[in-house]
Amino acid sequence: MSSTETGSRYAGLDLLASAVLLTDGAGQVHYANPAAENLLELSLKSLQRHRLPDLFLNGMELAALCNQVLIHQYADLRQDLTLQRSGREPLHVNSIVCALGQGELLIELRENVQQLKLDREERILDQSQANKELIRNLAHEIKNPLGGIRGAAQLLELELPPHHLADLQEYTQVIIKEADRLQTLVDRLLAPHRKPHIVGDVNIHEVCERVRSLILAEFPQGLTIRRDYDASIPEFRGDMEQLIQVVLNIAHNAAQALQSRIAQGDAEIVLRTRVARQVTLAKVRYGLALDLHIIDNGPGIAPEIRDRIFYPLVSGRDGGSGLGLTLAQTFVQQHLGVIECESRPGLTDFRILLPLP
Ligand SMILES: Nc1ncnc2c1ncn2[C@@H]1O[C@H](COP(=O)(O)OP(=O)(O)OP(=O)(O)O)[C@@H](O)[C@H]1O
Ligand SMILES: [Mg+2]
Repeated sequence: MSSTETGSRYAGLDLLASAVLLTDGAGQVHYANPAAENLLELSLKSLQRHRLPDLFLNGMELAALCNQVLIHQYADLRQDLTLQRSGREPLHVNSIVCALGQGELLIELRENVQQLKLDREERILDQSQANKELIRNLAHEIKNPLGGIRGAAQLLELELPPHHLADLQEYTQVIIKEADRLQTLVDRLLAPHRKPHIVGDVNIHEVCERVRSLILAEFPQGLTIRRDYDASIPEFRGDMEQLIQVVLNIAHNAAQALQSRIAQGDAEIVLRTRVARQVTLAKVRYGLALDLHIIDNGPGIAPEIRDRIFYPLVSGRDGGSGLGLTLAQTFVQQHLGVIECESRPGLTDFRILLPLP
C-alpha cells in the first residue's frame, strides 16, 4: 500500500487525541497520527523508517503483544506497558493492539498520567527522606560541641580580670547568646523525629477550631477565618497535638503573608474539610481520605522559593527560620498522609490528605 493511500484511509485518525500507529506484521510503521508523533517525539517520516519495537529498549514486550494478536487472531489485546527509551524518561502507556486483517495492526497508546504522577511523587518522597536524614545528622554534629562552647565561654567569663570585665564580658556574652540561639534551632531541627503519640481518635474539626482561636487571638482585627466543614468526616487515629501543630504552622504562615490585607481589613483564611475517595498516598491506595485545605487570599508564595518551601531552612521572611513547613510535612508523613501546595497571587492553597478508616 502506498503512503498516500494509507494517509487518506486513516485521515480521521489524525484528529484523535490518543496516539495511533499502523504497522505491518513485522512491526514496520506505515502510519502514525500527530498524537503519536508527539508522544514518541519523532516525526512521521522517521517513524516510517523503523519497526515500532525497535524504538524502545524493551520493545520485545510490545512485539510480543503484537504477535499474540496476529498468531491467535484476537480482535484486540490490551496491556499497560512501560516503554523504556535511551536517554529519555520511560513512557507509561495503556496500549491496545487491534488486528485489521492481512497482517496489519492498529496500535493505540494512551499515556498513563496516573503512573507518571506516582513516579514523580515517589521521587520527591525519596528525596525528602534523604534530605531529612542529612539534616538530622548535621544537627547532631552541631548539637554535640555546642554545650562545650557555651560552657567554655561561661568559665572564661569567670576568669576575666576584674578591670576588663565590662568590655570583655561583651564578647563572652555574644558567644553564649549565639550558642543558645543555635541550640534552639538545632532542637527544632531534631524535633520532628519524635514519634507521634497516638493516644486517641482525632476529630479534625476540633483541630481546626483550636487553630482558629489561636490565630484569631494573635490577629484579632482585619482577619476573617471562614470554616467550610464537612460534618460527616469520621474520626481517625492520630496525634492531636501534632496535627494542631501542622495546621497552625500553615495558618500562621498564611496570616503572616496576609499582613497588608489585614491592615486593609479584607484578609481571609478558609479552613475547608472534605472526604476524598480512592486516593493513593505515599504509594498506598486508600478508599477514603481526609482532604483538608487551608486557603488564603494573600500575595502568594514568592516564585524563587516556591519549589523548595518544604525544605528545612528555606524562608521568605525576615526572621523566619524556615522550619514551619518542614515540621508540618514530617508530621503529616508520620500520619501516612501527604501535603501539597498551589499558589498564585491572591490564592494560596495548602492541601493535606490523610487516610481515613
Ligand atoms: N500562605 C503563604 N503565603 C505566602 N508565602 C508563604 C505562605 N506559606 C509559606 N510561605 C513562604 O514559605 C516560607 C517557608 O515557610 P516556613 O513556615 O517553612 O518557614 P518560616 O515561616 O519562614 O519560618 P518558621 O520556621 O518560623 O515557620 C515562608 O517564609 C514564606 O515565605
Ligand atoms: Mg512559618
